[in-house]
Amino acid sequence: MATIMDGKLVAESVLAKVRQDVQKLGDRGITPTLAVILVGDDPTSKRLVQKKHDLCLSCGVESRLYQLMDSSSAEDVIELIKTLNEDNDVNGILCQLPLPGHIGEREVLRAVSPAKDVDAFSARVGSDIYDMAACTPAGIIELLRYYKIGIRGKNCVVIGRSNIVGKPMAMQLMLYDGTVTVCHSQTVGLKDIASRADILIVAVGKARMVTADMVKEGAVVIDVGMDYDDDGKLCGDVDFDSVKEKASYITKVPGGVGPMTLAMLVKNTVTATKLQFYAE
Ligand code: GUN
Repeated sequence: MATIMDGKLVAESVLAKVRQDVQKLGDRGITPTLAVILVGDDPTSKRLVQKKHDLCLSCGVESRLYQLMDSSSAEDVIELIKTLNEDNDVNGILCQLPLPGHIGEREVLRAVSPAKDVDAFSARVGSDIYDMAACTPAGIIELLRYYKIGIRGKNCVVIGRSNIVGKPMAMQLMLYDGTVTVCHSQTVGLKDIASRADILIVAVGKARMVTADMVKEGAVVIDVGMDYDDDGKLCGDVDFDSVKEKASYITKVPGGVGPMTLAMLVKNTVTATKLQFYAE
């Protein structure tokens, strides 16, 4: 039976340090400020944005929400981003994804100033030259660190190759000397590859797709999914009940990776603020 990695607990330990940094900035009259752009009214995105807003406030970080209509054009969103790029009172900008289908994600995200890009989409991960790391992968690294799970030399398998999780996750694992394999929808022999993983990270968005037969005895299993099963119940990409019997460590959904992503977002906002005021 696996140890359940407690995302809420570890997030709190990250946030304790973030709050200290916010206090120090406050002593100098600086309030870190995050601008969150939400286009349309997708209920899941709305809920996530509200959580980000509430967490910022609980840490003394100001959060401004910009709600745009579903019918907004890419130009509307880019114009707002450009205004926020120029606004010295705004330190971080996050454009909640997914955007409505008629808006090109790429053109919108590249408009965000790299100095304010708290999602780290513009981070030069290929060459390790970045100050802010993508929130979900960075949160997973923190979880592994907290539970003293080494990455060096381990067989790390990432299922999913999204810009937001899979790709930056692979880069961060390599940074810590993991041997990394990235699988995706076109991968042949997924089960064999997954079942060789010492550390298995799943970010595909398919309810309970990773079953116990895909997991090595004693593996560390990290579930990034936030899915709904046929009964409308929130679950992850991993079949928790069967996999927990085989894994050594496992995250739960909810209460695993989610709180870590949120904590790293606030941390990145504070990092962006510090760099904007104190970088050479
Ligand atoms: N939608 C779901 N997760 C995220 C995230 O981490 N950042 C952004 N911008 N959108 C998301």
